[in-house]
Amino acid sequence: MSGAAPHTAVYLAHADDFAGLVALLTPEEHIRARAIALPAPRRRYVAARALVRTVLAARLGAPPQALTFALGPYGKPYLVGLDVPFNLSHTGDHLALAVGNGPVGVDLEEVRPLQNSHAMLQTALGPLERERLQRLPPAQHLAAFYRAWACKEAILKAQGVGLTYDLHAVQLTVPADLHAAPVPEQGPEGPFGPWQLFLHWVHPTRVLALASTGPGITLIPVQTVEDREGRWIIHPAAAVLERR
Ligand SMILES: CC(C)(COP(=O)(O)OP(=O)(O)OC[C@H]1O[C@@H](n2cnc3c(N)ncnc32)[C@H](O)[C@@H]1OP(=O)(O)O)[C@@H](O)C(=O)NCCC(=O)NCCS
Repeated sequence: MSGAAPHTAVYLAHADDFAGLVALLTPEEHIRARAIALPAPRRRYVAARALVRTVLAARLGAPPQALTFALGPYGKPYLVGLDVPFNLSHTGDHLALAVGNGPVGVDLEEVRPLQNSHAMLQTALGPLERERLQRLPPAQHLAAFYRAWACKEAILKAQGVGLTYDLHAVQLTVPADLHAAPVPEQGPEGPFGPWQLFLHWVHPTRVLALASTGPGITLIPVQTVEDREGRWIIHPAAAVLERR
């Protein structure tokens, strides 16, 4: 990153790397993990908690288990007593944790065929968004839908309201070129804006959208490695991306 501009870091991880870090969880999280009957969701839960605790603890210089979380009125987690805005998203085994200097929202979406595409479009997109989508060649509709949807969800998650908000009240202009990633965009004005939107394909079928208030983003793939004493540490390889 250049200069002292406020920026958002997005930590990208795979569940395999963090699912073994059970020791970082609190007793309450251990109980919750044990209550998840199916192995795959249990693994993903442990990985998500371990990623959040590891990354935030490293930024704060505190032990991972010492961090205390609470939920906002619509369920958005925050750190008690500390102004470190963050947001998490997961799809399959991919995890994304955004940490900002202001409100942040992140969404990961798996691009897969829609079960009832007409109803889904009506529910998720407003009239202007549907009109723009219909102007694209049909072969681009599915990815265009997920791209628009991920952006919208990222904004609603940044705001903390999640999907409780009127989905037609936020209408975005998302460029048609679905594969030009990363693409910086200016979000809408109004009760939610202005937000900076950023898109990135973490996998050929998985798109990440980030909504933040700052101008810069650093994408940081994180893994864990075991050192000689057997302790797990983060091994970051940072890819720095600047908005123009
Ligand atoms: C929050 C919500 C947008 C998540 O969407 P999703 O695509 O299923 O899941 P994602 O992987 O993108 O995000 C999940 C993470 O978002 C975070 N989150 C939860 N509620 C949130 C909110 N209101 N705003 C922002 N982030 C939220 C959590 O960290 C959650 O991960 P965790 O449960 O492992 O901690 C969606 O479930 C929602 O809006 N629900 C409605 C709000 C609701 O019912 N809240 C219940 C308590 S009032």
